[in-house]
Amino acid sequence: MTATACTRLPRSTFDPSSGFGGVYRGKKVFVTGHTGFKGSWLCEWLLLLGAEVYGYSIDTLDPSLFNQLRLQHRLFDMRGDVLDIEALRKAVSSVKPDLIFHLAAQSLVRQSYDDPVGTFTTNVTGSINVLEVVRLALDRCVVIMVTTDKCYENRERLRSYRETDPMGGYDPYSASKAAAEIAIAAYRRSFFSTSLDRQQVAIASARAGNAIGGGDWAADRIVPDCVRALQRSKPIVVRNESATRPWQHVLEPVSGYLSLGQELWEEISTKNTQGTRLKELASAFNFGPLPGSARTVRDVVAELLRHWPGKWVRQVDPAAAYEARRLNLSIDKAINLLGWRPVWDFSRAVAETVAWYRSAQSQTSTELLEITRNQIAEYTCDAVKCGARWAIEATPNKVLRAAKVSGGGGPNAPSAVRPRLES
Ligand SMILES: NC(=O)c1ccc[n+]([C@@H]2O[C@H](COP(=O)([O-])OP(=O)(O)OC[C@H]3O[C@@H](n4cnc5c(N)ncnc54)[C@H](O)[C@@H]3O)[C@@H](O)[C@H]2O)c1
Repeated sequence: MTATACTRLPRSTFDPSSGFGGVYRGKKVFVTGHTGFKGSWLCEWLLLLGAEVYGYSIDTLDPSLFNQLRLQHRLFDMRGDVLDIEALRKAVSSVKPDLIFHLAAQSLVRQSYDDPVGTFTTNVTGSINVLEVVRLALDRCVVIMVTTDKCYENRERLRSYRETDPMGGYDPYSASKAAAEIAIAAYRRSFFSTSLDRQQVAIASARAGNAIGGGDWAADRIVPDCVRALQRSKPIVVRNESATRPWQHVLEPVSGYLSLGQELWEEISTKNTQGTRLKELASAFNFGPLPGSARTVRDVVAELLRHWPGKWVRQVDPAAAYEARRLNLSIDKAINLLGWRPVWDFSRAVAETVAWYRSAQSQTSTELLEITRNQIAEYTCDAVKCGARWAIEATPNKVLRAAKVSGGGGPNAPSAVRPRLES
């Protein structure tokens, strides 16, 4: 079960479909990479918000959160390659989505050293294909292109990276995402500028840091590596222990993507397309934890072992591929323009992650679905207390008063109001 208990509230006081201004209710939402880790959390949340979800991905790995939640039975599940532009065009044209979230990618730094050509092709050409299909097939749509915080020219400095900093990327994965960002900006300026006819297509990109959360089974990511070792009662092998990253629970970037989609949708719906706000929103956004929350890989392992006892060993591989050691993100733009903010601190994010994986060892798909939905509900409830705009606007006043939004009470303190979704 989750790390903190929920108080059961009557359904009438908490309507999960009204989050994000209710804009997702009944909308057609097309998600590429829907079978991946973040894609599955995003699809589950979109379903809770009442969206009609269409997924487009090349494959499903096993194990995967997608299969564990049996998402294939609850959304429109399409198999296709983003590199096959004709298949992608047909899929998008047949759905005519209101919003697109593009997450499909070769998402692993280490794999990008083994397959640089495949990484660049999928991440750059795949992103261009999505933009091109939108250009050719849609008149009205919000498109959120998911890249990464690694797209910045990383100078290993202490200052946090802002959205206006230069693109770069040392390794093939990071450089491929930087190249995707450049292509996104070029398409936006050339074809979707607010001064052109296509003003009802709004394109934004989202740059987030390393996400942790239940259901990530990728090879070569620290949390899945820990979980696999602990499940087998083996020591965790830690490389690159002092690398510092802005770790955050997966619900943080996903709430950022949904907030950005909401705000852009509301803006294009007003038809006030010459407005400066649309121009500000149709741009790049960082979604990271609060300043000072960046932690080392060693910190992540130590925190995880507090909840799931075990051992770790250091392994120094002199032939290991280079990975950036330090990366901090400025999130001022998302806070100021979207009213978005991080909700769970580092220790809460790890606690919720471990709780999910420990449950997965013994629970059925139905129980795992309930745990997943309850984590979304708890996160939403804590977002209300933090004053996140996407959560507050959806919440009845009496619930806000009970949650003492204005009176503080941090997101990581025991919550006065913890709604629980009933399946
Ligand atoms: N997980 C993180 O910590 C993190 C951090 C920053 C950015 N991101 C970005 O977020 C996005 C999602 O990441 P994730 O962790 O869910 O990745 P993931 O590897 O779990 O999922 C990738 C998804 O993309 C699909 N895919 C891959 N190649 C494809 C192709 N050619 N055509 C169609 N589908 C294809 C896969 O089937 C899968 O559904 C990616 O763009 C990734 O770069 C992830």
